[in-house]
Amino acid sequence: MKKKLKVGILFGGKSGEHEVSVVSATNVAQALDPDKYDVTLIGIDKTGRWLLPDQSILLTNAKNPRLVKLNKEQKSVCLVPFEDERSLVPTDPTSSSAQAARFDVILPILHGTYGEDGTIQGLLELSNLPYVGSGVVGSSVGMDKDVSRRLLVQAGIPCVPTKVIRRHEFEKSADTIIQNLIKELGLPFFVKPANMGSSVGVHKVKTAEEAVVKLKDAFSYDVKVLAEKAVAARELEVAVLGNDQAKASVVGEIIPTHEFYSYEAKYMDENGAHLKIPAENLTADQIKTIQQMALGAFQCLELKGLARVDFFLDKNSGQVYLNEVNTIPGFTQISMYPKLWMASGMTYAGLLDELIRLALERHAEKNLLKTSFDPNESE
Ligand SMILES: Nc1ncnc2c1ncn2[C@@H]1O[C@H](COP(=O)(O)OP(=O)(O)O)[C@@H](O)[C@H]1O
Ligand SMILES: [Mg+2]
Repeated sequence: MKKKLKVGILFGGKSGEHEVSVVSATNVAQALDPDKYDVTLIGIDKTGRWLLPDQSILLTNAKNPRLVKLNKEQKSVCLVPFEDERSLVPTDPTSSSAQAARFDVILPILHGTYGEDGTIQGLLELSNLPYVGSGVVGSSVGMDKDVSRRLLVQAGIPCVPTKVIRRHEFEKSADTIIQNLIKELGLPFFVKPANMGSSVGVHKVKTAEEAVVKLKDAFSYDVKVLAEKAVAARELEVAVLGNDQAKASVVGEIIPTHEFYSYEAKYMDENGAHLKIPAENLTADQIKTIQQMALGAFQCLELKGLARVDFFLDKNSGQVYLNEVNTIPGFTQISMYPKLWMASGMTYAGLLDELIRLALERHAEKNLLKTSFDPNESE
């Protein structure tokens, strides 16, 4: 019998997107084929503590996606990288989790800060552990809406006109900055923290008066904020899967029932948005353009494994803009990313098999590289 792969699922996290990660991870754990995988859930609580007890006590209400949570009562373990053994070693060696900490592959089902931004990926690199998704560079660049935009624009991929504001400048001359934003972008405009997700800190600014409050709120999440021209847009999304030869899924559409696709629309209101898969009323040319832009972004931002690439289609001009990339998109059974692949003929479990295969492929390729230089070897 083939040996089962030992899979660690990292989830939760010190992030505004903790809850959705818990739901994604429970869905993933339930879908992984028990004949192929031996699964360990590794919960990270909101303070950043790592929890690794028995699966049955790690989660409360594990069967109910609306109530599922990390069980707060658990003793935490601190895991540190240990290169040779491909493991994360508990700092308490007597802990029963010592054995559980050796893995063949890690699935970081973490969204936002300290999970999607290259930090966890760095820890996994130091541990020589294969993991699903983008590496350190792709993850951190993909998370930073300002840096990713500069690279996308350089690659000829259209993005909405944006101004970047730093907190130290804003603190000195808020009034002048706001006047200039209104002059350059017009009203309304959007503000958003450079490194965030789930629409946390995203606001539509309609008047000069409310600009200060909304910018201040955005600055409470990051020292760098983007101000963007507001586009009357259809919101279209594409799933990308692969490493060097990635492919793009069908195009899906998010139709928010709120003023925009806010945090409330995403998570607080069951009817906050409708998903249309595939999106309707798009020409074959528009679909092709969007899919090619998604693949172009995947390559230009050094993404690997998976990404959901989000677009705006300007209802007035027909212009397509790339809005953002998500290197670890929502992964519940009803999330856009898996649903886009299901609409393209894959199953949820088959998609996970493929993501794990891609993680192992990338790790094997990287391990072939030299990490020392021998001047006596051939040129
Ligand atoms: N320039 C814009 N024009 C129109 N709507 C926008 C713009 N920027 C953001 N939005 C709205 O805000 C939502 C969240 O913004 P987004 O940049 O996708 O941040 P997040 O990473 O939090 O999802 C978008 O899905 C969209 O509804
Ligand atoms: Mg978004």
